[in-house]
Amino acid sequence: MAQTHTPTIWLDGELKPWAEGTTHSMSHTLHYGSGCFEGIRCYDTPDGPAVFRLEDHMLRLHQSGRAFEMQIPYSVEQLVQATIEVIQANKLRSCYIRPIAYYGYDSLGVHPNNCPVQVSIACFDWGAYLGKEGLVKGVRITISSWRKSHWSSFPTTAKANGQYLNSMLAVQDARKRGFDEALLLNMEGNIAEGSGQNLFLVKDGTVHTNDEKSSILLGITRDTIIQLCGDLEIPVEIGVMTKEMLLEADEAFFTGTATEVAPIRELDGHTFGTGKPGPVTSRLRDLYFHIIQGREPNYRHWLTYVNGAPGG
Ligand SMILES: Cc1ncc(COP(=O)(O)O)c(C=O)c1O
Repeated sequence: MAQTHTPTIWLDGELKPWAEGTTHSMSHTLHYGSGCFEGIRCYDTPDGPAVFRLEDHMLRLHQSGRAFEMQIPYSVEQLVQATIEVIQANKLRSCYIRPIAYYGYDSLGVHPNNCPVQVSIACFDWGAYLGKEGLVKGVRITISSWRKSHWSSFPTTAKANGQYLNSMLAVQDARKRGFDEALLLNMEGNIAEGSGQNLFLVKDGTVHTNDEKSSILLGITRDTIIQLCGDLEIPVEIGVMTKEMLLEADEAFFTGTATEVAPIRELDGHTFGTGKPGPVTSRLRDLYFHIIQGREPNYRHWLTYVNGAPGG
């Protein structure tokens, strides 16, 4: 059975048996990668399953659609509701959620013309993306020989399917060479991001990350970490990050919905600090995990409780 299998999928407004989540081989998106998608996580909390920053993810799905002039036929509110329904239908306590908006079957020209915009939301069990041990001990990464597609070629702030060919090349090469993940430089030769993660580094107590000018996806986990740094009074600098800055950093970590907050212990044979997750990374990672598990009352507004808000 496929890794992603659950009994029910949401497709074009209806809950359907998983096996009916199909599309025609002549669908536009299959040929040109012309869709956009999201990756969202739902966590088991003391008050039942709760989805982290659900509305923000659906807002980004809409923004990604707009970047490619795709009209998603469901509002953010409808997509939020559909997500709750599909998790409830599958009786899951925690899961990964994959909404996708894609052009279905009509014409085959590159212009999508009258191809219908279809939307599917699947949810299924998916463990730690870079492994449980990676979250605890840190991951080993390599700088990819593939450069990140430039923002002048693609709106890199949109989470569009076709852009992941770039990511796929990078991660395939990294794994072949025995690393956990790839880090892509941008066309300027500075740091862009991982194949599916944003990068942070820590130097002398200041947290650094880059922004859209470095050809990255503006991650929701990235935004969460920036907000947490503000709350913890940890200084943050947002701007260009060079390879030299990374090599001189005391600590480094990846963020992403699938990846969560993963310390980086090694870059191409260079060890960060003592080779163990540093104090700033560990503090942010541990707070992030408390928040997503519903154990931080000050951050409950980021959680959508699948079976209703606690006490609500
Ligand atoms: C290329 C890329 N960068 C960054 C991220 C992190 O984004 P988020 O934190 O919203 O999951 C992802 C994951 O979606 C990604 O695919």
